Amino acid sequence: MLHFGPGVNARIEWTAWILATTLGASSPGTAFPGRAPQRAEQASAGAPNVTFNRDIAPIIFDSCASCHRPGEAAPFSLLTYADVKKHARQIAEVTRTRNMPPWLPAPQELKFADEMRLSDSQIDLIQKWLDQGAAEGNPADRPPQPKFTEGWRLGMPDLILKAQKPLILPPEGTDTYWNFIFRLPIEKTRWVKAVEIRPGDKRYVHHANILVDREEESRRREAAPGAGFGGMEIRLESQVFDPDSHLLFWKPGTVPYVEPEGMELRLDKGTDLILNTHLQPSGKTEVIQPSIGLYFASHPATKLPMLLQLENDAKLQIPAGQRNFLVTDDFILPIDVDLLAIYPHAHYLGKDIQALVTLPDGTKKTLIHIPRWNLNWQAVYRYAEPVMLPKGTTVSLRYVYDNSEENPLNPNHPPARVKSGNRSSDEMCHLWLQVLPVNSDPAQGDPRMLLQEALALHNVAKNPADFEAHYNLAAMLQAKGRLDRAMEEYEAALRLRPDDAVANNAMGAALLAASSPDQAAFYLETALKARPDYFDAHYNLGNALASQNDFEGASKQFLLALRARPADANAEANLGSALAEMGKFSEAKSHFERALQIDPDNALARENLSELQRTMNQR
Ligand code: HEC
Repeated sequence: MLHFGPGVNARIEWTAWILATTLGASSPGTAFPGRAPQRAEQASAGAPNVTFNRDIAPIIFDSCASCHRPGEAAPFSLLTYADVKKHARQIAEVTRTRNMPPWLPAPQELKFADEMRLSDSQIDLIQKWLDQGAAEGNPADRPPQPKFTEGWRLGMPDLILKAQKPLILPPEGTDTYWNFIFRLPIEKTRWVKAVEIRPGDKRYVHHANILVDREEESRRREAAPGAGFGGMEIRLESQVFDPDSHLLFWKPGTVPYVEPEGMELRLDKGTDLILNTHLQPSGKTEVIQPSIGLYFASHPATKLPMLLQLENDAKLQIPAGQRNFLVTDDFILPIDVDLLAIYPHAHYLGKDIQALVTLPDGTKKTLIHIPRWNLNWQAVYRYAEPVMLPKGTTVSLRYVYDNSEENPLNPNHPPARVKSGNRSSDEMCHLWLQVLPVNSDPAQGDPRMLLQEALALHNVAKNPADFEAHYNLAAMLQAKGRLDRAMEEYEAALRLRPDDAVANNAMGAALLAASSPDQAAFYLETALKARPDYFDAHYNLGNALASQNDFEGASKQFLLALRARPADANAEANLGSALAEMGKFSEAKSHFERALQIDPDNALARENLSELQRTMNQR
């Protein structure tokens, strides 16, 4: 008997990742060979007792020079006495208002790594220095100049990727959001311990994130290969349960972050990296051509963190003029996790951004509080120590938006009603948590799956009109073998978006798995109406027709599948099977052989080929 290959199951569509991944929030990229000795508390009468060399240079070199030097993001250097004196008044002002160094979170009990805040006494010292005439002081007090690593911060990367085509940034206009696709030239799975993003001229690149596209999903959006595509927020689909795990984020001042041992990022052959950039016009035409450096580890990861995305975009219906529009969400953790990093995200109306937890014993803790949100300084914040959150902890977000004229960043003048969306003039209410499941019971299966299922259930209950929530819940249920419940959720998703190609394909795949090929064919055909070059739907429809003994129809579908994805061993093997069923043995043989060329381990092709040879020998 000939038989057909495994059906391509539902593609799981993860919710809008605008980004994923980062490396290191921020810490100055400086190395200090030594410190000036602490200043002695003695002031000779009349002479200024606060001097640049002794008191101010250590602060500036430590907290400002990483960005305020040539080639970095800040508009002027702060490397010499003359530089600093020239800006002394401004420096006193921006440090007093805490606009510089840019660090949004308020102080709190849970500490962040690389916290970039001046102490009150440092701020007072700067003011005093200014008031006393901004003296230079004794050269012997002066700390050594900070040293900076030029070029790649972590040394030569194992692999350097450069954007195929540069983006020409127009001299003026609104901000540009552009996505560069990097096709990974790797032949086998690699484990990455660090990524360095070199986004291009730092004065125009405001921030950048890397997304990991495991399905070559974004390529379809490029007008030409390598051209990239526009858009502020992008979403990706994934065929298997493979949640994003790392926050790879760059903003000015970011130093590449080396992942802790065992938490390397997996990259497979065929994975694309998408660099999502936010660019600001400079007044003249700029050429932006980012590159990425990858540092490989020699061993696979042993710990699997995941990104948990809380959101409540459905509540974003912000009337014009509203100054304090509150959006909340509360999610109860189904398992114990270590919280490693946090990344809050709103656009320009965001004002007061807060995330907190209520532990099972009632204790409340602030995870992050940003009293003056500013999208331009958004960042990923890593905790100095993992924060243990036991099962039953409620994670809450409380975001306040200001849609009034008083918000200087309001994109609308006069203010207009704003709702959620991907454009920078729309709003968002997202909170990403990088969590590592701990104390998990292996009998319960992959703990990330439990988190994702709880989140999908939460989202469906919160917003029954959330297509992605129904879809993701369905995919999760299907992965657990709960086919009937999965189909209910796919139906709920399809009531919201009857023509959606992905959901129709998923429903078709579920019906195939439930041995209803005729019903399956209906959904798969609907999927193909919406997306005629959809590999999965052609492949699944081929299987649906074959199991109804329509081998001619099946072979047509497998051919179309192969047109959409030419080197797919399973589609070749199934085409061979359909042809064999039709008695076209020599054609069938060549397709089995082609399947084995693509994938020498393809068991289906191998079995069918020897079956076919036996059949042919008997005749
Ligand atoms: C992470 C990078 C970074 C660090 C660290 C940093 N700055 Fe800046 N700074 C910038 C950028 C970028 C600008 C340009 C203005 C903007 O985008 O807000 C700027 C602007 C300024 C300005 C001009 C503000 C204005 O209103 O025009 C002053 C003054 C300043 N910085 C002082 C400091 C001082 C003092 C420190 C250290 C205590 C510091 N900066 C640390 C990036 C940085």
